[in-house]
Formats: sequence, C-alpha cells, structure tokens
Amino acid sequence: MPAAYEQYLVPAVFRPFAEDLAARAAVLHPGRVLELASGTGVLTSHLLTAAPSAEVTATDLNEAMVAFGATRAPGAVWRQADAQRLPFPDGGFDLVVCQFGVMFFPDRIEAFTEVHRVLAPGGRFLFNTWGPLGTHAFEAALQAGLERALPVDPPRFFPTVPHGYADPAVVAADLTAAGFAVEDEQELTLQGRAASTADLATGYLTGTPVRVAVEERGDGPAVRATVIEEMTARLGPGPVTAPMTAYVFHAAA
Ligand SMILES: C[S@@+](CC[C@H](N)C(=O)[O-])C[C@H]1O[C@@H](n2cnc3c(N)ncnc32)[C@H](O)[C@@H]1O
Repeated sequence: MPAAYEQYLVPAVFRPFAEDLAARAAVLHPGRVLELASGTGVLTSHLLTAAPSAEVTATDLNEAMVAFGATRAPGAVWRQADAQRLPFPDGGFDLVVCQFGVMFFPDRIEAFTEVHRVLAPGGRFLFNTWGPLGTHAFEAALQAGLERALPVDPPRFFPTVPHGYADPAVVAADLTAAGFAVEDEQELTLQGRAASTADLATGYLTGTPVRVAVEERGDGPAVRATVIEEMTARLGPGPVTAPMTAYVFHAAA
C-alpha cells in the first residue's frame, strides 16, 4: 500500500497541501517538531526543507508507512505511534503537525488531549482536514464510480473517514475540549493534478483501505474499469486537474 500511495496519490493529492502546511510550520520557527500520521513522509520532507533547523520526529500507526517514510525522509527520527497513546513524555515538543490524519483517529478528543500533553506550554498544533466529499472532485468522482460498480454495497470509506470529519465547528469544539485555544481556521482549495484517471484509480484502489473493501466484494478488474469510466466521464480524458478543499487549523496549548 505505501508504494502505490506514494506513486499515485502523493503527487496528485497530498503534495500541494504538504507544501502549504510546511510553509505555515516554518513561520513558527519551531525547534522540536512531532508529526502524527506521517504516512510515506511527504509533509516530513517538506518540513525538513522549510524548517532546516527543526528536529523532526515523524510517527505513524502503520509500521509499513514508518519503514517507507524512514527511507523517503531520513532527516527525521521515525517511530511507530498511535496518536491516541503517544510514547513521549509531557511537554517535549514545540509544534505538533498532522496532514490529513485526524479524521482517522477513532477518538479525536483523546488524541488531541495527548497532543496537548506532549506540547510545551504555549506550543502549537497545526493540522488540516478534508472538507465534505463533494468539495474534492477526484474523490467525489471515485465514490461515484464505486457506487456505479458496486450499487448494492459500495465501499463507504471515503464519505465516512477522510471526509467524515468535515465540520470545522465540530473540530474546533473537540480542540477546545482537549484544552486548546483555537487561534485560526482557514478553508483552503488547491488544485489536484494527475496524469490520468487511470493513475488516480490505481492509487485509490491499491493505495488506500478501499483496496480491501473491493477485494472482499470480488471482481476487482471490472470495478476498476467502471471506476475509470465514471471518473473520466466526470473529470475528462488525459491529464486531469480538479479542486480539492481542506480546512487548516492552528491551535495553542
Ligand atoms: C491519508 S494518510 C495521510 C498520510 C500523510 N500525512 C500524507 O499527507 O500523505 C493517513 C495516515 O494516518 C495513519 N493513521 C491512521 N490512524 C492512526 C492513528 N490512530 N495514529 C497515528 N496514525 C494513524 C495511517 O496509517 C495513514 O498513514
């Protein structure tokens, strides 16, 4: 999964937001930085470039992501960690960053409370979340393709997980419940770019948990063909460009 995620989804979907988040982090001139849900390390490598004096500790729940990320961004210290049970002492970081990870945490208040614990007083928490599915043209087209290919029981991963925490008021309330002061929340729309809808379909169908959901339902090649057809009908043939909307949060411990 990490290799397909890195090859097909990182350049098309995640890199533009990593550039944005790394630039916001660099403005804070952080010393000790903890990254959560680092995946294959796209934000990690941009952070190391944008804030070269920072000491970056990159973590992820998934050991395969940690192993992949450690080769991609070796300037960080990599460690397996669940955001809800961080293996770090109190107050050891100046900044915690997380790109498109908080939606995956089963209990956000518990995870945010852990982030608050490991931050020094006045430390910052900087992260982004996706907006509703309809504001992400690639993933809305993917979901439409899955619903056409598997009408009886389509995988619901994209509406319920990546796009299932898309109300900024709820995110802000969870931050406040964990002891943070919300300093800023911005809506940000960037353009996704991919060589083709076939590349996007390969990324989403092999580099995300949708892979297992499609395997369980059988006939992967037919699902892939229908998904590509629907995505091409919606996004066009050849190289594709489409808007993707996220929210960016700055909070202070
Ligand atoms: C959409 S990926 C984002 C990865 C990376 N930040 C990026 O921008 O490419 C979500 C990541 O969250 C990780 N994750 C899921 N649950 C987690 C948890 N409880 N604690 C830490 N990481 C988690 C997954 O393993 C996955 O790598």
